[in-house]
Amino acid sequence: MNYRRKYYDLFSKFYDDFIKLHSKDKNEELRKFFVEQTKLENNQIVLDLCCGTGSNFIHFKNKAPKGFFVGIDFSYGMLIQAKKKFNNANLVLGDVAFLPFKDNTFDIITYTFAFYELKGEKVHKTLLEIKRVLKDNGKLLIMEHEIPKNSLTKLLYYIRLATMGLKKAKTIISHEQELLQKFFPNVKKIISPSKKSKIFICQKEC
Ligand SMILES: C[S@@+](CC[C@H](N)C(=O)[O-])C[C@H]1O[C@@H](n2cnc3c(N)ncnc32)[C@H](O)[C@@H]1O
Repeated sequence: MNYRRKYYDLFSKFYDDFIKLHSKDKNEELRKFFVEQTKLENNQIVLDLCCGTGSNFIHFKNKAPKGFFVGIDFSYGMLIQAKKKFNNANLVLGDVAFLPFKDNTFDIITYTFAFYELKGEKVHKTLLEIKRVLKDNGKLLIMEHEIPKNSLTKLLYYIRLATMGLKKAKTIISHEQELLQKFFPNVKKIISPSKKSKIFICQKEC
């Protein structure tokens, strides 16, 4: 079994409490801000990649009550928590490098705090898969942390990167916009109001 998957299975029951403790964002203002950037409309179909415990779903639902939301994650434990939190979610157990969906299916694809976990060939494979299942003019939105300023948080941030393969993670971080532009010519970068996170909005061409 993939050790990362096992790690998330074990961590799944405590994941939300851990994030609440260390994010200082009790009202989830960051997720609200992120979902605002999707410009999601009613009746649109959204795919949340590496959906984890499903923290984005409630914000999708608030923005578009008639939308159709799908989440995919390779950790069964994380999906169980997502189902408890948002019973209406359509959840798929799977790896984002092999998306089990037809071409041109989704209006919007979201990817929060998990893009840096991709390693090696999976980076390109996943971006190709995203492009395949995204509708023409559809959008991919990726949110990741900026490099923290506080030294303790910075240390934790680098430890997380190290567990993913420091060299690869550093390459992704310093060249992420160029990397995304190879797949999506139109890439816009936005910084969150707290300045702690960044969002890349990538539009698929017709
Ligand atoms: C840091 S959590 C982020 C969860 C969620 N996106 C959020 O914003 O809270 C990373 C998630 O990515 C999932 N994950 C990592 N690599 C994956 C892959 N290759 N395919 C599917 N899920 C993956 C993990 O199981 C975990 O749930």
